[in-house]
Amino acid sequence: MGKLPEHIRISLHPGEDLNNYLRQRGYSNVFLLADTHTQKHCLPRINPLPEYAQRLVIPPGEEHKSLETCVKVWDFLTHHRADRHAVLVLVGGGVLCDLGGFCASTYKRGIDFISLPTTLLAQADASIGGKVGIDFDHYKNQLGTFQEPALTLLWDGFLTTLPANELKSGFAEVIKHVLISDAALWDIVRHRSLAQQDWPALLQHSAEFKWSIVQQDPREQGLRKILNAGHTVGHALETYLLANGSTVSHGEAVAAGLLCESYLACQRNLLSQTELRQIEKFILSVYGKLTVPKDLQNIAGLCLQDKKNKGNKILASLPDGIGRARWDCEVSLSEIVDALAYYSAL
Ligand SMILES: NC(=O)c1ccc[n+]([C@@H]2O[C@H](COP(=O)([O-])OP(=O)(O)OC[C@H]3O[C@@H](n4cnc5c(N)ncnc54)[C@H](O)[C@@H]3O)[C@@H](O)[C@H]2O)c1
Ligand SMILES: [Zn+2]
Repeated sequence: MGKLPEHIRISLHPGEDLNNYLRQRGYSNVFLLADTHTQKHCLPRINPLPEYAQRLVIPPGEEHKSLETCVKVWDFLTHHRADRHAVLVLVGGGVLCDLGGFCASTYKRGIDFISLPTTLLAQADASIGGKVGIDFDHYKNQLGTFQEPALTLLWDGFLTTLPANELKSGFAEVIKHVLISDAALWDIVRHRSLAQQDWPALLQHSAEFKWSIVQQDPREQGLRKILNAGHTVGHALETYLLANGSTVSHGEAVAAGLLCESYLACQRNLLSQTELRQIEKFILSVYGKLTVPKDLQNIAGLCLQDKKNKGNKILASLPDGIGRARWDCEVSLSEIVDALAYYSAL
């Protein structure tokens, strides 16, 4: 799977690592972006926090991953006369890191940014791979660029203040990574509860795995699509449930999606019945079962909007045995209805 590149580090002391790096690089000016939650919970845990850094705190939440918030960040940098040798330090979850990276990558045609991701989702997924961006006109990630941070520090200590539902939600991406890349690790992970997981080891694994895939296929022409496992059915469920007034987290939907897509893989003999039962048992033990309305045709119909499709063909990424996946697997609407029916009957 390969090692992590120099600029992505599992950190034991993010404060020391950050300060050493800043000292080495000798930036003209240091700016720090946090949201109100990470200001309260995460900044005090970065020791020593570079107090000389100019700080901007933005409101939390996906609704603020917007052009309006970018304007605040660009205004702030401009007002403080940030030049091209300045750096923006990001302390937050996927929303803040996506937005902050986008602002940095566009300000004066690009200044350095340093990511200190503070949610499990951001550490295991969003902060690896160079995608930065914002939502626009009700479309998610409509505006964006590819830009690698100068430095990414992954510290599991931030997870101790993360709300339980956020930890559980991010864990779905970790499960996805392990399931499609490493059969031996899958056997360890599936025998542990959420509270018993070894976060430093899992962060290392997720970052190495995602990085290696992204290196091989940076623009998602083929292989990188496997990272969307669970997301064809998962996104359809998430969209349907949210539109109909249920609350469901991204991770809960992806976990259910992984299960439905594992069923599809089993139907194609890519997974054995025993393997499907193992996946079932573990995912249900962590997430329980979502209540899926009987409207299976309409839920499945939402898969037609998936970004991986070609024309009106639904193309999913399915597990291919434990520890591997294949992409561009054509699935019909009726197969997805079947998979949802299987899930509902569990
Ligand atoms: N760039 C990519 O490749 C990529 C990949 C996957 C997801 N994403 C994006 O990630 C975003 C979701 O990220 P997220 O799930 O991290 O959500 P988030 O950034 O909204 O964070 C979730 C909540 O937790 C709070 N928080 C963050 N860290 C905390 C901590 N340590 N203690 C207490 N509270 C904390 C935040 O303030 C927020 O309220 C989406 O916008 C999605 O599009 C990007
Ligand atoms: Zn996801």
